[in-house]
Amino acid sequence: MSVGDVFLLVVRWLHLVSAAAWVGGSLFYLLVLRPALRRSPEPSGWLNAAAASEFRALVDTSILVLLTTGIILTLNRLTPGVVGTPYVLTLGVKIALSVWMFILALGRRRRTALLDAYRQAPEPTTSRLQGLVRAVSGYNTIVILGIVVFLLSDLLKVLFEIALS
Ligand code: HEM
Repeated sequence: MSVGDVFLLVVRWLHLVSAAAWVGGSLFYLLVLRPALRRSPEPSGWLNAAAASEFRALVDTSILVLLTTGIILTLNRLTPGVVGTPYVLTLGVKIALSVWMFILALGRRRRTALLDAYRQAPEPTTSRLQGLVRAVSGYNTIVILGIVVFLLSDLLKVLFEIALS
């Protein structure tokens, strides 16, 4: 194993760990913590605020690491000229969805504490269009996009192996 191979192994590992931490942490909040807090008879605002502050740091770090390592992985896959159009198209879709995730996560930051966004009751919709816009800009969307991006990443791996063989 060359130094380059070890470097790429570390880059892949950092990419995977960051993706798992972000999407896994979000799933934990949506499916475990939020329902538990809603059912709790005690006021849980302080717990939400504390969790939001801790989670914000994790999301910031994950985005930074995913972007940096994602660029390195992309250069590594595209430079040898082995991959074909299906790989490039899939990667393009994956990057577009990832950028959408980053914008949603950082956009919500400006408005309110991140986890507040999870528990926000939906405001009354005045039109179908407004309802649609609200639906695709919510934090649930980040989780759904994350799961799709995981699938696309596995597809990229398969397409790369097919291109090699
Ligand atoms: C601009 C952002 C990103 C870029 C440029 C990027 C690029 C890449 C590339 C080129 C690969 C290698 C695919 C292959 O095996 O051929 C990869 C793997 C992967 N990516 Fe990303 N990615 C980005 C963001 C994300 C995000 C947001 C997630 C999840 C939330 C994610 C999850 C993964 C996973 C799980 C793998 C597989 C890692 C492994 O098997 O070791 N990526 N990414």
